[in-house]
Amino acid sequence: MRVIAEGAEARIYAADILGIHAVAKRRERKSYRINQIDTGLRSQRTRVEARILGIAAAVGVDSPRPLLVHDCEIVMSDVGGTTLRSVLADNELDENAVARMMRAAGSNLGRLHHANIAHGDYTPANIVVAPRARLAVIDFGLSEVTQSIEAKAIDLLLMKRSVDPLRFSDFLNGYRSSFRGADKVIRRLLAIERRGRYKTRTLLVTDDAP
Ligand SMILES: Nc1ncnc2c1ncn2[C@@H]1O[C@H](COP(=O)(O)OP(=O)(O)OP(=O)(O)O)[C@@H](O)[C@H]1O
Ligand SMILES: [Mg+2]
Repeated sequence: MRVIAEGAEARIYAADILGIHAVAKRRERKSYRINQIDTGLRSQRTRVEARILGIAAAVGVDSPRPLLVHDCEIVMSDVGGTTLRSVLADNELDENAVARMMRAAGSNLGRLHHANIAHGDYTPANIVVAPRARLAVIDFGLSEVTQSIEAKAIDLLLMKRSVDPLRFSDFLNGYRSSFRGADKVIRRLLAIERRGRYKTRTLLVTDDAP
């Protein structure tokens, strides 16, 4: 099979299933993990990803359709396109188009959070700008079904750390537009950031102490 992408966790192959063009995501063995733990982790993340892909589609978030799941491999529809991360890296961007994409990325996360899905790795690398500027969310291996405000706030934090502030503010506008609980999660995000700073300061004080 032809490798079309290589992630930190998995290899993505071009696949053909009953004549439909698809992709296969295979979580490869990691030699630095103990064998038994490695096998468990890879198949657990694969099962989680397939299950949550099904829920994401049901709540109106564009994402690959799971077609087959087997051990550490999931065959899913090909969403095409290129990652939002590579789109944002282009210097000659139309800023209006970027603002629209950031709002759409935010509104997709809002829909997921409304359905109590925390993505677990919601960064521009896991959002694909598909044909006709449609956005698809991928890579649900670290996702969980949860009501946790903290888990949802961590999704925001990861995105905030990955884009510049203006883009993050467009993202938050989209997030608020699709999720009534948005403000509560945004407040938690700010609290997490304050906690982070507090820890850093404490560490500095400790370092300076005689
Ligand atoms: N359904 C899909 N359709 C089209 N391209 C895909 C699809 N799934 C994955 N890809 C491509 O493969 C790349 C890696 O996929 P994915 O993020 O799911 O793997 P990963 O190993 O978890 O990556 P990482 O850990 O680096 O985030 C994506 O950036 C995307 O380019
Ligand atoms: Mg990824």
